[in-house]
Amino acid sequence: LEGLAPEIAGWCLADKFLLQTQTLRREMNWKLANDTFGETYHFATLHRDTLSAMYYSNVTAYETFGRNHRMVFAARTINELRDQPVEEWRLRTHATIAYFLFPNTQVLIAPSSAAIYRLLPDPERPERCVIRQSLFLDEAPVGEPGEAVRQRTLDVHERVIVNEDFVVAESAQAGLSSGLMPRVVFGRNEPALHHYHEAFREARGRSSDSALDTGPDRTATITSEPA
Ligand SMILES: [Fe+2]
Repeated sequence: LEGLAPEIAGWCLADKFLLQTQTLRREMNWKLANDTFGETYHFATLHRDTLSAMYYSNVTAYETFGRNHRMVFAARTINELRDQPVEEWRLRTHATIAYFLFPNTQVLIAPSSAAIYRLLPDPERPERCVIRQSLFLDEAPVGEPGEAVRQRTLDVHERVIVNEDFVVAESAQAGLSSGLMPRVVFGRNEPALHHYHEAFREARGRSSDSALDTGPDRTATITSEPA
């Protein structure tokens, strides 16, 4: 885990309450599914009626650890910390801490819940993938407060990730599969996408059939990438 092991272990995922596991089969390449976890500027548009009310859009604390990375994005409640002494600040209450573990695992640590998404290629068709989703709560839901956390966690993953992120990524896959888009440009506010596509290339020995060129404006263009 290239420096992330103590931090990941610190979240004690093995001690959490397993809320749900499911396997999804979706019409997109597994790396495109991965991309949906790699930036936050889409919150204000794609998640306008869901996540945007809870989280700031287009602001991320981002750090790489070899081929892995950590992204932290702030909930709007983070402003409450201004009135509290710094030594009492607790990040997790006011943020989601998202890890990408090379090559295909996303770990999301949210207030009171956590999730693991493992994104797998469909061995038959590169434009399809298999997604293994596991959702966790810090504690087994008890009473009304517990039920509210349970329902909120299920809702966020179903409405936001499955029904918004994955649906849009499938439409992007349809465009890419048409062959009419010879290249994809990653913006300068998409450092995670630059990083993990570069990590994929590096792991494959920088094969000559793909290219990721970083321009002077800190965008990157990918011209083709094997499945
Ligand atoms: Fe999203």
